[in-house]
Amino acid sequence: MLISFLTLFFAKLNALQIISATIVFFLSITLITLYFYKKRIAEIKLIKEIIEYIRKNKFSSSNEIKLPNSLSELESEIKKMYDKMISDIAHLKKLEQIRTEFLGNVSHELRTPIFAIQGYIETLLNGAIEDEKVNRTFLQKANQHVINLNNLLNDLIDISMIESKQMKMSLRFFKIAPFLESVVNEFIPYAEKKNIELKLLPIDSNIEVFGDKERLRQVMNNLITNAIKYTEKGSVEVGIIEYDKNVRIFVKDTGIGIPEKDLERIFERFYRVDKNRSREMGGTGLGLAIVKHIIEAHNSKVEVKSQLGKGSEFSFLLKKI
Ligand SMILES: Nc1ncnc2c1ncn2[C@@H]1O[C@H](COP(=O)(O)OP(=O)(O)OP(=O)(O)O)[C@@H](O)[C@H]1O
Ligand SMILES: [Mg+2]
Repeated sequence: MLISFLTLFFAKLNALQIISATIVFFLSITLITLYFYKKRIAEIKLIKEIIEYIRKNKFSSSNEIKLPNSLSELESEIKKMYDKMISDIAHLKKLEQIRTEFLGNVSHELRTPIFAIQGYIETLLNGAIEDEKVNRTFLQKANQHVINLNNLLNDLIDISMIESKQMKMSLRFFKIAPFLESVVNEFIPYAEKKNIELKLLPIDSNIEVFGDKERLRQVMNNLITNAIKYTEKGSVEVGIIEYDKNVRIFVKDTGIGIPEKDLERIFERFYRVDKNRSREMGGTGLGLAIVKHIIEAHNSKVEVKSQLGKGSEFSFLLKKI
C-alpha cells in the first residue's frame, strides 16, 4: 500500500522535485538526529555531574538528585543506590565505633586486675611478705584478681566464638529436672554465704527439653550468679512453666532490680547498671551478652521483668517433647 503510494507520488514528480524532496527528507532526519544527540549528550553530562556529586559527598539527601522526566526510572534507581550507599556507610561507621569501643573496654577491663595484681606483688616484694598480718591476705587478693582475669578471658573467648559463629551447638533432648537440680545445688553454698534462700520449685521429672545442655548450663550459671549477686536479702527461685509445646525456664530474685531505662541495654557487652558496684563484685558485664547469644542460638529470646528495689525475673522458652 505504502510502496504503491510512494511510487505513484514519485511518478508524478519531475527529477528536480525528487532531488529537493530527498534533500528535505535527509535534512529533517539529520536535524532530528542532531536534536536527540544533543539531548542525550546533555543528559549524560547531567548523569556524570550527579555521579561526581555523589562521589564528592555533595548531596545532603537523595531528594536533591533530579533528572528530566524522560529519565525518571533512572533517577529513582540512582536515588535507591544513593540511599543504600549512605545506610551501608552508616552501618560500617557504627561497626567501626563498636569495634573501637570493644577494644577500649577490653583493655580497660584487663588493666584493672593486672594493676591490682601488680600492686599486691610490689607491696609484698617491698617488705610486706615478711609481715604475717597482711602477707596471706595480699596473696589471696592477688589470686582473686587472677581468677577474675581468667574468667574475663574465658568470657571474651566465648563471645568471639559465638559472634564469629564458630561455636558449635550440640542440640538434643534432655531431662530438665535433674539438669536444673545439679545447677542449683552448685550455688547453694554461695547463696548460704549471703544468707539468701535459693530454691528450685517442683518440676515434673519426665519433661524433656531440646537444647545444648552445656551451653544452657552456662546460661543458668550466669543467671543464678546474677540473681544471688544482685540480691541483698530474700530469695532466688528457679523453676519452669510448662506450655503445650514449650517450657519457660525462669530465675526470679527479690534483689535490687533494674531501672526501666537500663532494661534493654543490660544484654550489651560490658553494660552494667552500676559499673563500680558490679566491678567490685568481679563483674565485667559480659555474662548477659553470652546468655543472649546462647539463647538466640536456640531460636529463642531472653525475657526480663524487673522492678527497682523489688526484684528481677529472667526467663526463656525451650522446645519440649
Ligand atoms: N538479677 C539481677 N538483678 C539486678 N541487676 C541485674 C541482674 N542481672 C543483671 N543485672 C544488671 O545487668 C548488668 C549486666 O549483667 P551481666 O551479667 O552481663 O554483667 P555482670 O554481672 O556485671 O558481670 P559478669 O556477668 O560479666 O561477671 C549487671 O551489671 C547488673 O547491673
Ligand atoms: Mg553477670
